[in-house]
Amino acid sequence: MDQRNQQRRPKVIIDCDPGHDDAVAIILAHAHAEVLGITTVSGNAPLLSTTQNALSVLELIDEDTPVHSGAAAPLKGWEKGEAIHAEGVHGVGGLGGVELDAPSRSVASSDAVQFLLTATRAHTDVWIVAIGPLTNVALALQKDPTFSERIAGISIMGGSATVGNATRVAEFNIWADPEAADVVFRSGARLKMCGLNLTHQLTTTDELVEQLREMNSKNSIFVAALFEFMHGRMEELIGRRRSALHDPCAVIAITHPELIVSEARAVAIELDGTHTRGMTVVDERVTRRRDPANVEVAYSIDADRAMSLVVESVRN
Ligand code: RIB
Ligand code: CA
Repeated sequence: MDQRNQQRRPKVIIDCDPGHDDAVAIILAHAHAEVLGITTVSGNAPLLSTTQNALSVLELIDEDTPVHSGAAAPLKGWEKGEAIHAEGVHGVGGLGGVELDAPSRSVASSDAVQFLLTATRAHTDVWIVAIGPLTNVALALQKDPTFSERIAGISIMGGSATVGNATRVAEFNIWADPEAADVVFRSGARLKMCGLNLTHQLTTTDELVEQLREMNSKNSIFVAALFEFMHGRMEELIGRRRSALHDPCAVIAITHPELIVSEARAVAIELDGTHTRGMTVVDERVTRRRDPANVEVAYSIDADRAMSLVVESVRN
């Protein structure tokens, strides 16, 4: 990579729970950012699976980015004392529908929090791209309160300014660990939020799957298989063969911010509501009495240009 190009690339650490859209976000980030490392968290699947999946995706795209595994359960255990997963959507193991070789390398460490703290002391202007439950990020903030000041910010795929997916009002990443999300949203760090109200504007189609297959690179064939699997699951779940590309939006918010329109908003995390636990409560009042903003909430994306970035990132 030429030095000029390197200078334009934002430095990022991806905290993720691969997961089909996480896998696409990892590929996209490597095409447009300097990825200092990947930290994994329990979410779409158990931690062992999300970690293996991250290592396998990196091997597929010939990247040796270090992977550090992190939290295996949310800050506050679920009623039955275990983490919650989304294998009904992503399949058992978190990457249903694709065959990936078992990774030949293992994690650089099993201390994601220490990596987050150490890497952001060694590098300035690092964006944390958080595309799974926020457990690792919250633990880092709790362990070192100066973390929020020395990073460039946290670009979150999570929450929603409208409806939920895990529940009527809660999006999965927030719902899987609301206490962690509360720590992050109260941290004072610069926050960008790509919620479901935004990510549902970036959806894949069967025509796109065909386009990727015709491109016929190993990465395009892999991503086509990801989308094909998700289309089948979405057809069962919502009756439509379309899948929202949630996690790549949080990458694009950093690498191509000109493609996203955001507004400063006050956002709080509901922790106690019988029907609303895990909801991102966004102050949308039109009066001047809005609460002080703590988040840049994304409201629209140039979906055509964003999808072109995804397609181009797997061309070779
Ligand atoms: O609600 C969408 C989010 O939940 C995405 O990050 C997806 O990977 C799942 O983790
Ligand atoms: Ca994810």
